[in-house]
Amino acid sequence: MASTQLTPHRRRPRYAGKNPRKFEHKYKEHAQDSETLAKVRAAGKTPAGLHVPILLPQIMRVLAPQPGERAVDCTLGSGGHAAALLEAGATLLGLDQDPLEIERTEARLREKAAPEALIVKRMNFAGLPRALAEVGWEDGADVILADLGCSSMQFDNPSRGFSFKHDGPLDMRMNPKRGVSAREMLRKLSASKLQSLLSDNADEPRAEILAQALAGTDQVSTTAFATAIRAALPFRFDEDERETTVRRVFQALRIAVNEEFTALDTFLNQLPACLRPGGRVAILTFHSGEDRRVKHLLRDALRGGIFSETNDDVIRPSAEEIRSNPRASPAKLRWAVKA
Ligand SMILES: C[S@@+](CC[C@H](N)C(=O)[O-])C[C@H]1O[C@@H](n2cnc3c(N)ncnc32)[C@H](O)[C@@H]1O
Repeated sequence: MASTQLTPHRRRPRYAGKNPRKFEHKYKEHAQDSETLAKVRAAGKTPAGLHVPILLPQIMRVLAPQPGERAVDCTLGSGGHAAALLEAGATLLGLDQDPLEIERTEARLREKAAPEALIVKRMNFAGLPRALAEVGWEDGADVILADLGCSSMQFDNPSRGFSFKHDGPLDMRMNPKRGVSAREMLRKLSASKLQSLLSDNADEPRAEILAQALAGTDQVSTTAFATAIRAALPFRFDEDERETTVRRVFQALRIAVNEEFTALDTFLNQLPACLRPGGRVAILTFHSGEDRRVKHLLRDALRGGIFSETNDDVIRPSAEEIRSNPRASPAKLRWAVKA
């Protein structure tokens, strides 16, 4: 006999107060209805599930995309920089390894772009030469942008497990369909491997003590892991030092889980061959491990005559930009022009 039982109607989760505070309660913003997004922006806030593009005018100035030029945004995110490249009239190839966000971003960009002006591929930017060949741009692009690290959509979504500010599974994968989660990685790491990972990926001064306490442990959630990190530190540490350490350990583990340095090194080695003569590249970095790599590549390529120009001093966000978007604070912009 067929069951007559119907799925019970489930109410939206309720929240206390007039406005939703938690990520999962901001359902109207997640739906990305343009009226709601405009209201949130007009109130000087960033809608949940979106990312504010950093150093946008400066990046557009150095990349100077011209109508009809080939532009690649290697890190599409929520498409803030990509939208500006499209508005300038470039034909855009957008890449991102995140399968969860890329479809929403593509749909938003397609609302404003001519169909032939936008190609989107879910892939790691380490495969840039293959992506270029697949769209018939094997002789290179005119403009390449990489805005490294994670997006706000990834950080703010508790279920992605990137941030210790929200309770969620300790995952941290930008592509959750690939590789192992941070929980799995930590469970299998030896103390010596974890120590090197903390030093190499985040210059963590307390790497040895932390590695002894944390290697091989099973940390189910982001907040439980943050508590374990704080507890591993000597008693004399104040709250600021403990929070900075938690941030560095999360950063180090995220870099390892996503093999970020391997992808960046591969990308940088291939970069000169991916630009046409006169082509421009801009790279936004967020910590010293990234910036060191970019600085060396650009400087060596300038000395070798591959690039004709690059910036001596990094471009940093203004105090005003940092005030309105604190996540911009560690950003450093480097650029170069292919000879
Ligand atoms: C900082 S966000 C980019 C934000 C974007 N510029 C915007 O305006 O919205 C970085 C994005 O790069 C992606 N990403 C990071 N490393 C990547 C890699 N190796 N290959 C492809 N995408 C990557 C992340 O998934 C994330 O969506």
